[in-house]
Amino acid sequence: MFAWDPALAIDIPEIDAQHRALFDQAARFDAAVRSGQSAREVAELFAFLSRYAQEHFAAEERLMLEAGYPRLPSHALEHAEFRRRLTTLVPHWESEGDSSSLLMAVSGFLVRWLREHIGTSDRAIGAYLRARGTPPPT
Ligand SMILES: [Fe+2]
Ligand SMILES: [Fe+2]
Repeated sequence: MFAWDPALAIDIPEIDAQHRALFDQAARFDAAVRSGQSAREVAELFAFLSRYAQEHFAAEERLMLEAGYPRLPSHALEHAEFRRRLTTLVPHWESEGDSSSLLMAVSGFLVRWLREHIGTSDRAIGAYLRARGTPPPT
């Protein structure tokens, strides 16, 4: 479930590498949750992943801006919605301590969102660049 699926590649090497890294980090977070690692370790992995996701969104939005991608506003809204979901989940998670069912729900949400968003919205960026004949940034 957390393994990178080559079918999710959007043929923009820089972005594909970031997506692979996001999956790796989500897998690490999930493994920590399932093996019952300490709340501190789980929280650190989560903080690392959310920071990385913010940097990735910023890089992707920069690329869309530079390419004059027409669906940038709705795409950026999806990123914002993801950020909002994470920030609403975290206080809930902290108040419930290290409830393993909640942590698993967080981990399930992460991977479902990544698959869905990369497979549709991010893929559309790759298709747009290809259709325009713009070489992808490396
Ligand atoms: Fe995106
Ligand atoms: Fe992305």
